[in-house]
Amino acid sequence: MEVVIAPAEQLAVLAADAIESLVRSNPATVLGLATGSSPLKVYDELARRHEQERLSFARVRAFMLDEYVGLAADHPERYRNVIDTEIASRVDLGPGAVQGPDGLADDLPAACAAYEAAIADAGGVDLQILGIGTDGHIAFNEPGSSLASRTRIKTLTRQTRLDNARFFDDDVDRVPTHCLTQGLGTIMDARHLVLLATGPHKAEAVHQLVEGPISAMWPATVMQMHPHATVLVDDAAASRL
Ligand code: GLP
Repeated sequence: MEVVIAPAEQLAVLAADAIESLVRSNPATVLGLATGSSPLKVYDELARRHEQERLSFARVRAFMLDEYVGLAADHPERYRNVIDTEIASRVDLGPGAVQGPDGLADDLPAACAAYEAAIADAGGVDLQILGIGTDGHIAFNEPGSSLASRTRIKTLTRQTRLDNARFFDDDVDRVPTHCLTQGLGTIMDARHLVLLATGPHKAEAVHQLVEGPISAMWPATVMQMHPHATVLVDDAAASRL
């Protein structure tokens, strides 16, 4: 695992560099996209490079990590819509190029299985962007998640719902209770994992991720077993290393 400590703007540039070099060498790269605030500066940087440096995503395909269950198709916090707003609509990703788990499917387990099959059909994810929850979750793999898990339905913890209430008018009761998420095993299949974390509230999770024992109670620790994992953190998030 490689750990880089730098200011947030520089971390975003490093993540964008890794994505750019992949896309320039293979225009049909498969990216893994994450929601949350952590990747936003990376998406800004990719949009800038698309506009100013002709970085094209026309042949790129992308898979999202997770999705809330039951949020209406036009709900602004539906992850599908967040990804469209934050990145897909700002670059030249083709129509249908971004896929996510279908949190509105009638048969949720079937939707999870179909999603796994779609990722496999695309040849797997080349580079997966990740954030980390304060409780050490990646995607929505909450503490206690099997380290070998695949895409499935999960119940969100109270802590995650409180953390995410800021996107729902600070009202925790409006935050969905369930989600569909790639499993830790699914995420570990990606060929390069790039995790971003900034701010003092992430320090404990980053400490566990980098230095803790591998444990389902701190799901991100599974990344210690990945052959190519990059952890990009600012000083505050690195303060317990
Ligand atoms: C949510 C997302 C995760 C994300 C985490 C951290 O729970 N499902 O993918 O990593 O939040 O969010 P943030 O980057 O806003 O701190």
